[in-house]
Amino acid sequence: MVVRWAFFLLPTYLAITNVLSSTKIPTSKTYIVQINRSAKPETFGTHVEWYASVIQSVALEGDDNIDTERIMYNYETVFHGVAARLSLDEVQRLQQHPAVKAVHPESVYELHTTRSPFFLGLESADNTDVLSGNLTGHDVVVGVIDTGIWPESKSFSDRGLPPVPGHWKGTCQTGRGFDKAHCNRKIVGARMFYYGYEADVGKINERKVYKSPRDQDGHGTHVAATVAGAPVRGASLLGQAQGTARGMAPGARIAVYKVCWAGKCSTSDIIEGIDKAVKDGVDVLSLSLGAPTFAYQTDSLSIATFGAMERGVFVSCSAGNSGPNADSLANVSPWMTTVGASTVDRVFPSAVTLGTGRKITGASLYKGWKDGSLRKQYPLVYIGSNSSISDPSALCLQGSLNPKIVSGKIVICNRGLTNRVEIGQVVKDAGGIGMILANTYEHGEDLIADSHLLPAIAVGNKEGAAIKKYAMTNSHPTAALSFQGTRVGIRPSPVVAAFSSRGPNYLNLEVLKPDIVAPGVNILAAWTHSLGPSSLVTDKRIVDFNILSGTSMSCPHVSGIAALIKSRHPNWSPAAIKSAMMTTAYIHDNKYNPLADASTGAASTPYAHGAGHINPLKALNPGLIYDLGPQDYFEFLCAQISSTDMELFGNRTCHHTLASLGDLNYPALSVSFPEKGNNSAVTLHRTVTNVGKAVSNYHAVVSSFKSVVVEVEPATLHFTKKHQKLSYKVTISGKKRQTGPEFGHLIWKNKVHKVRTPIVVSRPPVPIQT
Ligand SMILES: *[C@@H]1O[C@H](CO)[C@@H](O)[C@H](O)[C@H]1NC(C)=O
Ligand SMILES: *[C@@H]1O[C@H](CO)[C@@H](O)[C@H](O)[C@H]1NC(C)=O
Ligand SMILES: *[C@@H]1O[C@H](CO)[C@@H](O)[C@H](O)[C@H]1NC(C)=O
Ligand SMILES: *[C@@H]1O[C@H](CO)[C@@H](O)[C@H](O)[C@H]1NC(C)=O
Ligand SMILES: *[C@@H]1O[C@H](CO)[C@@H](O)[C@H](O)[C@H]1NC(C)=O
Repeated sequence: MVVRWAFFLLPTYLAITNVLSSTKIPTSKTYIVQINRSAKPETFGTHVEWYASVIQSVALEGDDNIDTERIMYNYETVFHGVAARLSLDEVQRLQQHPAVKAVHPESVYELHTTRSPFFLGLESADNTDVLSGNLTGHDVVVGVIDTGIWPESKSFSDRGLPPVPGHWKGTCQTGRGFDKAHCNRKIVGARMFYYGYEADVGKINERKVYKSPRDQDGHGTHVAATVAGAPVRGASLLGQAQGTARGMAPGARIAVYKVCWAGKCSTSDIIEGIDKAVKDGVDVLSLSLGAPTFAYQTDSLSIATFGAMERGVFVSCSAGNSGPNADSLANVSPWMTTVGASTVDRVFPSAVTLGTGRKITGASLYKGWKDGSLRKQYPLVYIGSNSSISDPSALCLQGSLNPKIVSGKIVICNRGLTNRVEIGQVVKDAGGIGMILANTYEHGEDLIADSHLLPAIAVGNKEGAAIKKYAMTNSHPTAALSFQGTRVGIRPSPVVAAFSSRGPNYLNLEVLKPDIVAPGVNILAAWTHSLGPSSLVTDKRIVDFNILSGTSMSCPHVSGIAALIKSRHPNWSPAAIKSAMMTTAYIHDNKYNPLADASTGAASTPYAHGAGHINPLKALNPGLIYDLGPQDYFEFLCAQISSTDMELFGNRTCHHTLASLGDLNYPALSVSFPEKGNNSAVTLHRTVTNVGKAVSNYHAVVSSFKSVVVEVEPATLHFTKKHQKLSYKVTISGKKRQTGPEFGHLIWKNKVHKVRTPIVVSRPPVPIQT
């Protein structure tokens, strides 16, 4: 996903619309109109009729076919109003209408593009209960808002599943390549939404595109299989990552909401997908897409997911792939669970052997190289210099490579923003015989394995620099490439991926984001048959499984684990489920060192990993939870946005019960001190609910801080009943001036449980650069 792109879209949107309407190109655009549902006059039988009349009332005279032509969606569950095509004049008139609460311009989101169950401890013999072995009690439905599904994949077999849960009210929408028989006890629902996409881009060409829930892109299939795929033995990508592929919750059901077409997801379609999913009865929503949130009240995704949360739906979202830049998060609303990405203990090693004999390890999924010819030394070339790492030919962009120079050689290319496999295609087309794809500073040491179309190896920033130096300084540089398949048990792991978007949460420093990290690097899951594993049209390979990286892959891990927790604890709120995940997360790797950050190699911070790495088995039994209900989140908004804007979040009333934003009962403690003057003391209040043994005692353990003193009162909690709530306060007072943020934790501890919340002491936010 390209977060930065969406950044300047909002402020300049109206200006662009003005220019376009004066030159009479598109006279109308899509807007999402929020309407006061309760204001419907009795003369209208239905809301749909009334919404049509509201839109009609602002139309230009002589325009008779408004309602049917212009209204694309009627939103009725988590959001009230319509999506409609409107001119700027009409928008201005609509904003004056007494029943209209807000008019949000359409925006376009991009997708945030198996070893993980084992790595997460879901496959050990003593945990059969949470595994596929016991499929009863799994009445949980996960709504996947994405690119659709490839229903023939074995991952979506419904063998052994009981009938569709009674609470399910969804439907199986048909279209080209998708009929009723493609839904089963696993895929319990499938719908598609394209009016927003078609309004912006033009009619979908039905001969080329499956205008149905069938997935032509692969992303949605991969995500759905990661959430709830049935176990499939002998899964692999062209022999790589061999093993049993399974989702996090193999007993859960999948409901498909296809809202993304050709990589674009329009907000009007996404909102309709969420609206219908909640009405259909999903328990969990999985959203591997997004854009930065500038303000809760202008972000229709925040507003719609607030409605989903109000109806008890757990919402899991990807954090974005714009790391390691600070302030790069998407989806930061506190009622969402914001998921960053980390590695698993599996790599696809390959090696570059330089002419000097030096051997450098990288990663590759390249297969299909049969004669082994690159085992010998071949000429090596880098068309760049120290000062031009982003020149087109240093990035091997289309048309930048001279065949006379690269033909018959192994070419070094810097990893930029273009599709990594496409870079290999450029090298291949120019006559190159192999490629070394070198990370630059911003990608750090993330090793993303790709299924390249020529022998190609990805190397980290440090090793990449060494290879480039060799190629630039030696008169006849050479290299050999070798591929070593799949290795597991790699240490250290997990490591936070460099691409995973980073905090701080620019919208509210008081709420730590991301919430958690989960596997998102080189993840194997089911794939579409309509596109090769590299997603390039030139790639004619057909595979059942593919390996992808991104927070798009980590989000569905959390969605699936939420489904597991929900099936074990059906009455837990979305906040309770999130708390269980966060307070049991770990912050150490398999070498017992602090979780590292791939962009620096040093220990990662909560701005990268949130509460830490998800630990599903512990999350099923967290001991204590930090609960929150819809009114709590509403009060959090009341404390910072105007009463007019509050109307967008439903018809609740502000009671102003939240003394400060930091008192939101979040499972993380985040405070910011003023930039100037002495650090004063800040006190945060929290309430924990006992979900462990009725009689249980906990004592507080706080890590040490350099610049502040942290005091917890009371320092012990004595529970005598199940579901009992006890409150405590944490006072953080300045000891000396900070030079930067400081991180630590508070743990409520007894012999059975360690309920950990991160503590972040930060300065005020750095203003957002535009
Ligand atoms: C919505 O309409 C109802 C009925 O007209 C009115 O009482 C209420 O104040 C309106 N709410 C808002 C937020 O305008
Ligand atoms: C499966 O789970 C259900 C509900 O949690 C439980 O009642 C049943 O005993 C379990 N069956 C097995 C074989 O573990
Ligand atoms: C490029 O950088 C390397 C390593 O820092 C240095 O040894 C070399 O002299 C530099 N080359 C040029 C042309 O600046
Ligand atoms: C408040 O909103 C809910 C959900 O939209 C609705 O069911 C309820 O009737 C509304 N209450 C009032 C007083 O408008
Ligand atoms: C900061 O604290 C010091 C020592 O407690 C005190 O002397 C000084 O006046 C304080 N400054 C401000 C601006 O409050």
